[in-house]
Amino acid sequence: MARRKKIYEGKAKTLFEGPEPGTIVQYFKDDATAFNAEKRDVIEGKGVLNNMLSEYFMNGLTQIGVPNHFIRRLNMREQLVKACEIVPLEVIVRNFAAGSMAKRLGIEEGTALPRPIVEYCFKDDALGDPLVTEEHIAAFGWASQQDMDDILSLALRVNDFLSGVMFGVGIKLVDFKIEIGRVYEGDYQRLIVADEISPDSCRLWDIETGQKLDKDVFRRDLGSLTDAYSEVARRLGVMPKGATPMKPTLIN
Ligand code: TMP
Repeated sequence: MARRKKIYEGKAKTLFEGPEPGTIVQYFKDDATAFNAEKRDVIEGKGVLNNMLSEYFMNGLTQIGVPNHFIRRLNMREQLVKACEIVPLEVIVRNFAAGSMAKRLGIEEGTALPRPIVEYCFKDDALGDPLVTEEHIAAFGWASQQDMDDILSLALRVNDFLSGVMFGVGIKLVDFKIEIGRVYEGDYQRLIVADEISPDSCRLWDIETGQKLDKDVFRRDLGSLTDAYSEVARRLGVMPKGATPMKPTLIN
């Protein structure tokens, strides 16, 4: 059997060459890291949950017309996605103050923001993904002004979609991070939502209790990460009640 070619190994996912040109197989690992990989662990079942949840959100985006990289899920841990060139930015959208912004500006976590705030970080692990402004992005040529207009519009559409989906299951979307890919179609290039959308890259709080259902559970040692992610999946109907990621036969 031919061994497929690994293209890239990140902290939470590995990318392999896909079966057709222009496709990539995205494999979700169980590895969890935080604080630029200073804290790390293997959380059994996390990869399965993020694979299913990212499929759910990307499919939803497709259905409302937001272009993204998702093609189809292949198995419990892998999905086929469109190959794209990743714009070297982490695009963060915040609805409530939390995490690094709460700390940086001295705002209490959970404070509602007067409008969604979009931030950009330069994707560079060695530098710890520093916050940058549009001035840096333009000056260093990471994205053009047209790209930035498109990125802002994508980020806000994802925010509206995800906020609504989460609200529907009693969860507050505090903030999230997306990555953007460039695909070339003939002479044209298009920007699409890429990477993943999962509780690894969002802050999700139960609306009633404030309970954290995202990677902060791991970052801040607040309990079981798989229990938190399973709860999100269960509420969204991505996994039937009672199913656990360790029992794949129970999952549709
Ligand atoms: P922050 O408050 O730590 O800057 O995080 C903002 C959002 O971005 C939060 O939902 C978590 C997400 N995020 C990532 O997906 N990857 C990262 O490397 C970091 C630092 C944050």
